[in-house]
Amino acid sequence: MLLERSKLNGEGEFRDARMSATDVLRSVASHQLLTLGLSIVILLLYLIRVRLRSHLRLIPGPFFASFSYLPRLVSVAHGHAHSDAIELHRSYGTVVRVGPKHVSFANPEALSAVYSAYTKFEKSDFYLPFDAKTAHGSVPTVFSVRSEHAHRGIKRPIAGAYSMTTLLELEGLTDECIAIFQDKIKDKLEQAERYKIELDLGEWLHWYAFDVITSITFSNRLGFMQAERDVEGIISAIEGRLKYNATIGQWPALHKLLLGNNFVSWVANFVPSLAKLNTSRRIVEFAARQLQRYETKDREKLKYRDMLDRFRRTKSDGEVQMTDVDVLMAGVGNVFAGADTTAISLRSMFYYLLQNPKCLERLVEEIDDMDRAGKLSEIVTFAESSDMPYMQACLKEAMRMHPAVGLLLERIVPEEGVNIGGYFIPAGTVVGANPWVVARNREVYGEDADQFRPERWFGLSEWANMDDDTGESARTKLQRMERNFLAFGMGSRSCVGKNISLLEMNKLVPQLLRRFKIGLAEPAKEWRMEGYWFVKQLGLNCTILRRQS
Ligand code: HEM
Repeated sequence: MLLERSKLNGEGEFRDARMSATDVLRSVASHQLLTLGLSIVILLLYLIRVRLRSHLRLIPGPFFASFSYLPRLVSVAHGHAHSDAIELHRSYGTVVRVGPKHVSFANPEALSAVYSAYTKFEKSDFYLPFDAKTAHGSVPTVFSVRSEHAHRGIKRPIAGAYSMTTLLELEGLTDECIAIFQDKIKDKLEQAERYKIELDLGEWLHWYAFDVITSITFSNRLGFMQAERDVEGIISAIEGRLKYNATIGQWPALHKLLLGNNFVSWVANFVPSLAKLNTSRRIVEFAARQLQRYETKDREKLKYRDMLDRFRRTKSDGEVQMTDVDVLMAGVGNVFAGADTTAISLRSMFYYLLQNPKCLERLVEEIDDMDRAGKLSEIVTFAESSDMPYMQACLKEAMRMHPAVGLLLERIVPEEGVNIGGYFIPAGTVVGANPWVVARNREVYGEDADQFRPERWFGLSEWANMDDDTGESARTKLQRMERNFLAFGMGSRSCVGKNISLLEMNKLVPQLLRRFKIGLAEPAKEWRMEGYWFVKQLGLNCTILRRQS
């Protein structure tokens, strides 16, 4: 009896205990539901607040992009943000809200307001991952530094080394690289059956651009063309880092949690797929090795005063203007920005010429005419090429059709806000123009903006004073096109290396076309593009024959 009662009690207690456990679980669950519900409400309220952010709510754009960073991030991660941006603008107009506090514009008048010489629009945190990683931590470069004031300080001592006068003194170094390029092709042709070869011209142009930039910066030609490969893996290191920078730059706060965090960055080196992206330090080490080789050289014996020699490290009174780290950063900048960009523009030039035989024919005729008249040196000089108007028009059109940079050149709106295309945009908003969108603006370049037509740049001398049916002279049109040319950026942060690339391109293109007959190996096949800040082309396979002299 006692036992039964105690059993009953036990069961009762057990039941009581079970009931109270169920109650606890229920109350926990209801608490969790409440918390979840509250979190969802707070998140929704936050998203609504972001979506309806003052003034920006009036700007058209895709719905999800107005409160989430993800659409931008995904578009960049897929490598086609440049073409997505053109589509967006064709759907929504010249001013588009592309992120929670991001506005993309293509208005000609806004370009000069945002990207002026003394601008108050500073670079955004998109550029944060582009800081160079050194043993002393992350250091901003002339390209990545956000503050305009700091930028002036970094640029002042190096600017002279990038002037055209300086670079023309280094033209001989470019000649050496061009001689190697054409000799390599000649050798291959001699060994080939029927004097015809097939090669990936895109890859060769990349090697050429690397050999030139390391020659004129450090007097160390690394021999990419001689070796016919990516020396020291620098091309793939830059590629990996660009993938990371371009994608994470769309949501820069993530950088501090990812490769911007020392511990994560260290761990990433043990995961092959992440190690490929974690290459910032490899790029700095590459530049440091070039500097070391440079320091061991007997500089008195060098034939040319290279760029390093022209950086103003000290003032006339001996005050130090550039520390060793500053010099290293300038070197890193040249390596990081100097080769891909030029190679991309050169590929574009050959691709569009080969796709448009009439343009190619006209250019070759221009070159041959000068050659026959004895106006060309053994290796075409910059001055000779500048005397070829059709060549200049083709170069400009190739850079318009395929700008090297394919993302927004992001800037932060200063205190007073800005008016773009009739919309007031408040301080703190990130605004920017994408060179691809601006280059395909039909209001500026006409209905055939998607077509390669060098003649559009050629109007000045031929048709300058003729009015079209809108009463607008060719000169006015041309000036508008020039003002919208964003391939080299604009204003205080425009490309410091522009002259280097103009020198490289102006010499190589006429020289190769003069010596060789180049064609597309598979004319019907389009090349592939991968846009991670730079829009790189893949698969420029060409056939090459020797031309009769
Ligand atoms: C065809 C070749 C090139 C193209 C299309 C090009 C394009 C550009 C563009 C669009 C910008 C502006 C980026 C921005 O606003 O965020 C820029 C800036 C820059 N480029 Fe280039 N670039 C080329 C060649 C070079 C070369 C050869 C070098 C160096 C040797 C170089 C070094 C730089 C640097 C350091 C900046 C930052 C300038 C500053 O903020 O003061 N670029 N480039």
